Amino acid sequence: MTGTILITGANRGIGLELASQYASAGWRVLACCRTPERAEALRKQAAMTGNRIRIHTLDVTDTNRIQALARELDGETLDILFNNAGVRGGDQQTLGGVDVNTWLHTLQVNTIAPLKMAEAFLEHVARSRYRIIATMGSVMGSMAENTSGGQYIYRSSKAAVHMIGRSLALDLHSRGIISVLLHPGWVHTDMGGADAPVSPAESATGLRRVLTGLRLEDSGRFFDFQGREHPW
Ligand SMILES: NC(=O)c1ccc[n+]([C@@H]2O[C@H](COP(=O)([O-])OP(=O)(O)OC[C@H]3O[C@@H](n4cnc5c(N)ncnc54)[C@H](OP(=O)(O)O)[C@@H]3O)[C@@H](O)[C@H]2O)c1
Repeated sequence: MTGTILITGANRGIGLELASQYASAGWRVLACCRTPERAEALRKQAAMTGNRIRIHTLDVTDTNRIQALARELDGETLDILFNNAGVRGGDQQTLGGVDVNTWLHTLQVNTIAPLKMAEAFLEHVARSRYRIIATMGSVMGSMAENTSGGQYIYRSSKAAVHMIGRSLALDLHSRGIISVLLHPGWVHTDMGGADAPVSPAESATGLRRVLTGLRLEDSGRFFDFQGREHPW
């Protein structure tokens, strides 16, 4: 399976690893990041994989830029739109300590942007062969697995994006488009921290395997990077 994938937040962490693995496997990668001039690791991967990685400037909170990029890519097919970019929402997330502006920004990146990306790139995905919209959710957005409380900003942003992905699945089923939510594991990145047990390489390898095996019946489901169905 090869094709074209667009990945947001592709300059570091899991996004960078996904870009690198997909390009190495022969995919065309449209790698989006906020500041390409500072994305040395991504540019290095692009150089190492021939012309397979193309870097595009995209801050996912900039809806006008999302639409402009969709126009620039008019006529392209996107087999996978991967909403990966995310923020944790800062350190003040306990009861009584939540900063509203930080929360709004986190919702813009983690929750609103994936829907705006799906809207803007719908036709690019619809004309592709695999027709997948993959959105990074999290165990932290799971109602069933919230046994420790707190983390109001991050938890609410991911719980909400789970619902976005689920509605996309229902709304786009008739067009044969698959929308899935993914939990990448607790991953050793800037966000996951040094104690995280899963490497970006393991996570990206698992996520790619999950996406490769998807069928339309899987649309609207929530999987972890090992292919297990995740509780909502
Ligand atoms: N690591 C984990 O354990 C874990 C667990 C569950 C879910 N996740 C989710 O997995 C995804 C990737 O996480 P990660 O661990 O790779 O995080 P990371 O290392 O902190 O990387 C986050 C990426 O998102 C990008 N980003 C942030 N704000 C953006 C914006 N406004 N526009 C465009 N890009 C933006 C960052 O770009 P800049 O360099 O420009 O900031 C960076 O490329 C996130 O959605 C995260 O919530 C991670």
